[in-house]
Amino acid sequence: MKKDKALETLSSGRFALLLTGNVHDNVPFKSKLANRVELIKLELSNEGYSIITYSRSEGLGVYDIGKHKDVRTALQTYGLEKFLTDKKEINDQEVGLVFRNILRMLQSCDISSKIAIIVNYASHVAGHQHAQNEERVFSEIGHMLATLPILSRKGHCVIAIDDGSQEISPLIATEFHKVNYEYPSEDMYKDLFQILKNGVSDYALTNLEAEEFIKLSQGLRVTDIKSMFKDAKDKGVTIDRKCILKEKEQLINQISEQTLKVVDTTEKVEIGGMEVIQNILEQEAQLLKSGSREASRALLVTGPPGTGKTTLARQFAQMSGFNLLTLDEVKNMFVGESERRMSKALSIIESMGNCILFIDEIDQVFKSREQANMDGGVSSNHLSELFKFSSREDLRGKIIIFGASNTPHLLDPAMLSRFTIIPVIEPTPIELAKIVPLIEKQISKSNILDPNNSMILNGCETVYTKGATPRDLWKIISHAKRKTGKLNSESFLMAAKEFRSSMDPWSIALSSLVSVNMTSMLSYLPWFNSPSTYPYPWYLKDIVSSLDGTMNEELLQQRIAEAKSLAKY
Ligand SMILES: Nc1ncnc2c1ncn2[C@@H]1O[C@H](COP(=O)(O)OP(=O)(O)O)[C@@H](O)[C@H]1O
Ligand SMILES: [Mg+2]
Repeated sequence: MKKDKALETLSSGRFALLLTGNVHDNVPFKSKLANRVELIKLELSNEGYSIITYSRSEGLGVYDIGKHKDVRTALQTYGLEKFLTDKKEINDQEVGLVFRNILRMLQSCDISSKIAIIVNYASHVAGHQHAQNEERVFSEIGHMLATLPILSRKGHCVIAIDDGSQEISPLIATEFHKVNYEYPSEDMYKDLFQILKNGVSDYALTNLEAEEFIKLSQGLRVTDIKSMFKDAKDKGVTIDRKCILKEKEQLINQISEQTLKVVDTTEKVEIGGMEVIQNILEQEAQLLKSGSREASRALLVTGPPGTGKTTLARQFAQMSGFNLLTLDEVKNMFVGESERRMSKALSIIESMGNCILFIDEIDQVFKSREQANMDGGVSSNHLSELFKFSSREDLRGKIIIFGASNTPHLLDPAMLSRFTIIPVIEPTPIELAKIVPLIEKQISKSNILDPNNSMILNGCETVYTKGATPRDLWKIISHAKRKTGKLNSESFLMAAKEFRSSMDPWSIALSSLVSVNMTSMLSYLPWFNSPSTYPYPWYLKDIVSSLDGTMNEELLQQRIAEAKSLAKY
């Protein structure tokens, strides 16, 4: 069996250790789960150490010290025994005394055994807020302990454990050798899974396969997974993919300092039409699910407002079964702070793995450098952070960035090259008709409007020429219902005729033209499979060849320039 990191470090000749990171986790040990600190004690004991423990709440303690007579006598001699008898909090005045006496005891010549002092929650002692005079007790004495020549001469050691709740005093940080415990490795999750599977009397059943469990669990502590399985057992619940996503959601909310938000994707998303896009996303989702090296690192959906881009992100999360995270309160901070928050968010995403980083209206968060110069360079710094992140090959198949933009012409060209770009332009009349019942369902829980009904189709054709998007369908359907008191194909057609778009046609044209110009593949264009029958919108009619769906580049560029000068937004 492999030695614990702390013991390995001790045997490499270090005598003062500061354990940081994921120290207080469980670890698989002999087909069971054990507390890591307890395991360290066990291993130390096996190596012949007498162990004295200190924690603020439990005071002084010893571990398996019976066989070391000299240590027991020494504890008595130095007045420490009375702190051992009843395990209670040691008050502020006493902390100093205790540590000074430990120091003297270690220097004494009467002890032949090796002693390990384990101080739980080093920061707690070092900066204890109530301990006025003794405030820096451990930081000073700990510093002395760590630099004590006797420590190495006699083979004693002092191990401080950081719980991460407070800043560690620099005195400790410099003198103690840091041993950082990472979050569990894949091997550890694998062992954990076996233990959970075998321990059906304590733990809930799961319908997950080992491989899926290992992949999904990344970023969770063994302790959290263990209590999840225990709680589920009590409730008689089977652990599935959703349970683990929920657990991660809670953890992310807890540790992200509001830099990240987990989007709720429990409600089923139904998309109408958009077959081409659906297929691309389905493929990407499968690659992601299998952790494939072929998965994209970053996807970008672009097109006019209201065409379903935000909805596609939610659907993509459901297809892949990953958490959907958004950057929260990162962009509106002042320069230094927003940078720090961005790094924090990205490092959490990295440790969690298997998630989708959704950046909605990415043009607002990451403006082109040109635009960013106008607001103090904040955005361009963000941009470079995200650049580095998006090009990390090791994250392929684990983390995908999903961006959405209504105004792709405002995006930094350097960023665009990192994305697989999928244009999402206005749905065709037939597609709009398919979306109608989906929106009807959400508005009135009814199922009356039939996409094949000629009046519905007629209405959709009418609104299509006026530049309506699915979002406008909400208005149209609500209006039909409100005005006539009933929802049917007649009232829909009536509302469709009344409809006027609030969007400026040239703004829609600009967004769509730039989007189709940016497409990563010609086959991503919505007309690619049916170039001869596709109802091209007015600004594309003369640009696309109805023979093969290719675009006249020169005309396209001209039209984009024209749209830029005429668009109001
Ligand atoms: N293809 C679609 N199928 C079903 N509903 C859609 C579709 N596209 C858009 N919607 C609906 O239209 C509204 C606007 O979509 P949204 O995703 O917010 O657009 P965007 O992010 O492109 O501005 C949402 O309520 C969404 O449910
Ligand atoms: Mg949106």
